[in-house]
Amino acid sequence: MNGSRSLFVTGTDTGVGKTRAAGALIRQARNWGVSACGFKPVASGCERDAEGVLRNDDAIALSRASGDAEPYPAINPVALEAAIAPHIAAREAGVRIEAATLDAAHASLATRYPLLIVEGAGGWQVPLNDDISFADWVTAHQWPVLLVVGMRLGCINHALLSAEAILRRAPLAGWIANVLPPEQPRLAETMDSLLTRLPAPLWGVIGAGAEGEAAATALAGPEFRRWLALP
Ligand SMILES: Nc1ncnc2c1ncn2[C@@H]1O[C@H](COP(=O)(O)OP(=O)(O)OP(=O)(O)O)[C@@H](O)[C@H]1O
Ligand SMILES: [Mg+2]
Repeated sequence: MNGSRSLFVTGTDTGVGKTRAAGALIRQARNWGVSACGFKPVASGCERDAEGVLRNDDAIALSRASGDAEPYPAINPVALEAAIAPHIAAREAGVRIEAATLDAAHASLATRYPLLIVEGAGGWQVPLNDDISFADWVTAHQWPVLLVVGMRLGCINHALLSAEAILRRAPLAGWIANVLPPEQPRLAETMDSLLTRLPAPLWGVIGAGAEGEAAATALAGPEFRRWLALP
């Protein structure tokens, strides 16, 4: 094992802000001088570029946050065209997503970066194939998990279910509140309800409309810094 750490970013659902939060983590780590790189092992919902290579917006966004220093497949080794659950998209494409493929791509990036921000697909229990889920893959590595809570009606239940399921199998390093527009009614009360119930520290609140450096600033508080073991 080398000196690289990985943080697995999951969310309360698809479309809750995992990519936005992962980009913010990468940018803020880099602002602090930590060479971080994003990794999107499995992406469904890809489009073909001019050369016919499948590319995904999440991976492109993570690559940009990471300084665009890696070839596309290093950031996203499994790219699937259909915007559906990955194991179904893979089956339709005639491929099987293998943990070994994801491990090899991860190991390669880990030789070059001290910090990898790994974005899952959908939520914690999403299947990779008929035998294993993303949760199984992450559990095998025992990577710490960061839960992105998309602040909208229903998020308290989704956040608590996710946290309970994660904690059965892997460390929950913290959570990020991502305020989705339009801002939900009783946002402050909902935040309080999560703060008192989620068994992990809040790393930051990404405001509605905050992206790029503005989102990174939301992670500049003490929790992420402490996790990075920065003075
Ligand atoms: N704080 C925010 N303010 C405004 N728009 C946001 C915010 N967070 C996310 N969005 C928008 O919501 C959509 C979903 O966000 P994002 O792609 O980060 O979610 P995700 O959890 O990564 O989704 P997926 O499951 O597809 O990977 C995007 O269009 C994004 O631009
Ligand atoms: Mg995403």
